[in-house]
Amino acid sequence: VDADRLVVRAPIVTVMGHVDHGKTKLLDAIRKSNVVAGESGGITQHIGAYQVRVDHEGVDRAVTFIDTPGHEAFTAMRARGANVTDIVVLVVAADDGVMPQTIEALNHAKAAEAPVVVAVNKIDKEGANPDKVRQQLTEYGLVAEEYGGDTMFVDVAAKPGIGIDKLLEAILLTADASLELTAPIDGHAQGVSIEAHLDKGRGPVATVLVQKGTLRVGDSIVAGNAYGRVRAMLDDTGTPLTEAGPATPVQVLGLTAVPGAGDTFLAADEDRTVRQIAEQRAARRRAAQMANNRGRATL
Ligand code: GTP
Ligand code: NA
Ligand code: MG
Repeated sequence: VDADRLVVRAPIVTVMGHVDHGKTKLLDAIRKSNVVAGESGGITQHIGAYQVRVDHEGVDRAVTFIDTPGHEAFTAMRARGANVTDIVVLVVAADDGVMPQTIEALNHAKAAEAPVVVAVNKIDKEGANPDKVRQQLTEYGLVAEEYGGDTMFVDVAAKPGIGIDKLLEAILLTADASLELTAPIDGHAQGVSIEAHLDKGRGPVATVLVQKGTLRVGDSIVAGNAYGRVRAMLDDTGTPLTEAGPATPVQVLGLTAVPGAGDTFLAADEDRTVRQIAEQRAARRRAAQMANNRGRATL
């Protein structure tokens, strides 16, 4: 029987914005700001999601970032019904200002009903005009707190690593002001596969984000129509974990196939159960594919 113990979980953040405005640099800067120099492992690889710890008003807090910038991952996940993002960080380069994909990203955030924190990036550059970005976004309903609105704007420079702490602070303030960040910690894990690939030595490797329950080494798991038993779990520094609770991203080894980005996953007691679920999902996909092909043939 699943108990219903709730825990406070980390907010889950997606970074979006116009091309070249600094999404990747910002995700790198946030991750670097949190890695203790010389820590075993350090930043080893790109895994699709990571978690940082922040001292927020004297309390140790976690923030989870989905490290697949751009609209595609976000859209793919939402298309599959996986609304994983709590907060969107909208990156706008201060030398370039609001551009078409800035607005597109904003529309995605609105559709997902996710609060937005604006990271006004590249303030180190000549010609940077962070106030202009604030003015421009007012027209789209994002009014900065300093102008009497309720959106937090933070000036940053991802490349030299300026303003990262303030941005993390703003994310937590926004989360606490507008979100109910609790999740059940007991029971079988459920969540989303963010990214997956086939590793030469280790087989299928999937980065999953646990949304409910706790995932443990040894659990039987199905992700999309891939299934298997969790052989090992690693965090973004390659450190092995034995369990992962809500809002924790982990790399999972032990699947027999590579799931798709945005596929939901769940754990169960028995291998048989997850295999059956995987087979049902595969059959449904085949049926949908056939219906789709027939539809095309009659066009
Ligand atoms: P796409 O993924 O292609 O859409 O780009 P992106 O938004 O991920 O931008 P990316 O992080 O690749 O940065 C684009 C360029 O801007 C790179 O040359 C970065 O070095 C540069 N850049 C990013 N942030 C800053 C910054 O704060 N200051 C300066 N001077 N350059 C920056
Ligand atoms: Na780029
Ligand atoms: Mg990028």
